[in-house]
Amino acid sequence: MADATVMERIVSLCKRRGFIFPGSEIYGGLTGTWDYGPLGVELLRNVKNAWWHDNVTSRDDIVGLDSAILMHRTVWQASGHESNFTDPLVECKTCKARFRQDQVPESQCPRKPSKHPGEFGDCQLTEARKFNLMFKTFVGPVEDSATQVYLRPETAQGIFVNFRNVVDSSRMKVPFGIAQVGKSFRNEITPKQFIFRSREFEQMEIEFFCKPETSQQWYATWRDQRFKWYQDLGLKSSNLRLREHDKEELAFYSIGTSDVEYKFPWGWGELEGIAHRGDYDLKQHMQHSGKDLSYFNEETRERFVPHVIEPSAGATRSVLAFLCEAYTEDQAPNDKGEMETRTVLRFHPRLAPVKAAIFPLVKKDGMPERATALYKDLQKHFHVFYDEKGAVGRRYRRQDEAGTPFCITIDGQTAADQTVTLRERDSMKQERVAMDQVKGYLMERLGA
Ligand code: GAP
Repeated sequence: MADATVMERIVSLCKRRGFIFPGSEIYGGLTGTWDYGPLGVELLRNVKNAWWHDNVTSRDDIVGLDSAILMHRTVWQASGHESNFTDPLVECKTCKARFRQDQVPESQCPRKPSKHPGEFGDCQLTEARKFNLMFKTFVGPVEDSATQVYLRPETAQGIFVNFRNVVDSSRMKVPFGIAQVGKSFRNEITPKQFIFRSREFEQMEIEFFCKPETSQQWYATWRDQRFKWYQDLGLKSSNLRLREHDKEELAFYSIGTSDVEYKFPWGWGELEGIAHRGDYDLKQHMQHSGKDLSYFNEETRERFVPHVIEPSAGATRSVLAFLCEAYTEDQAPNDKGEMETRTVLRFHPRLAPVKAAIFPLVKKDGMPERATALYKDLQKHFHVFYDEKGAVGRRYRRQDEAGTPFCITIDGQTAADQTVTLRERDSMKQERVAMDQVKGYLMERLGA
């Protein structure tokens, strides 16, 4: 299947099955915004929960934070975003289209899509100018420069400005990290590739504070751990790579940066950046706020400004990688025994929006009652789904498309021997399991 077709099919499945819808769709849409439907919100939540569990609650050296999206304007002056968080923008004076200068070679001329901008007839591209990606807004009723603030373009700065608060209020000692998951906003010149580059998205970030002399070791450790996280959740090694930035690509304050990249249907794209930020951010905020953000080690009686390793991942972008990895089509027999194309989302069980679907084979002979009782019991432990409409083969297909790992059917035999048919999504293998063993079976197989 051509790669463009794969992406089109994924986008179409996401819309059809309620994973992801275009933002503000009934008003013609708002470019760069996306709404997560009933299945999408579960998938996104599962990605964030897996990240939070693996990086925060299952570790002793990381604590969480949820800081405000609106922050004092000086935060962004101190961080460098107000002057440097820009992309080079070029405009076509003829058709008024705008492009990121570095993306012109891969963009299409709107009037002649077979050509790149600037290559067709009377295209008139301007010189590049710096375009700041932060969204502006105002606090309070007066709109002037004194009340202007920005929607945060990253969650990281909320962590730096709370470093002192966390140290003073918790028992955390360097080395330790602060983690945050939340919305970020960037006025991207060209949002593209579905949810890959959006104007509103979610990040999952850690700022890990350590002694300067241990920072290289922590940088290497975090790079490896973060790479492995994606593998553990089902991204194939052949679709993942760790790419170290060369000197020219590094931000001016960065001592080293590596990107975890995923092979999307259109090519390699960044999922997460792991950056060695040195003491740049804490020192900038010390200078601009006048507050002491150094750390005092009680045991060694040393005072120092910690160095920071920052694993910064995109939650929504990870959702896209997990969707691309999970999407498969195979051939399977339908209810009449004819082979047909089956679309399956082979999600890792931790990420699957629905963990199991429960069906009565037919709507009679006490099957709906037994199936409902099992559904209600399982619902206390897992996100499960009940469906009694249509042929059972069709119901299986619908769950395959939703990525549900198991389907449980209550049939004629259930009344006789208290067993159910349990069908596994990927292999489509069916086995009979005692009804009172289903919960334990799911617990074990789902890793719950
Ligand atoms: N604090 C560092 C920072 O924000 P970044 O490389 O600009 O670094 C981190 O962003 C991650 O956030 C990226 O690897 C990507 O996964 C995600 N991200 C960035 N811009 C995005 C956008 N416009 N849409 C979706 N995800 C985005």
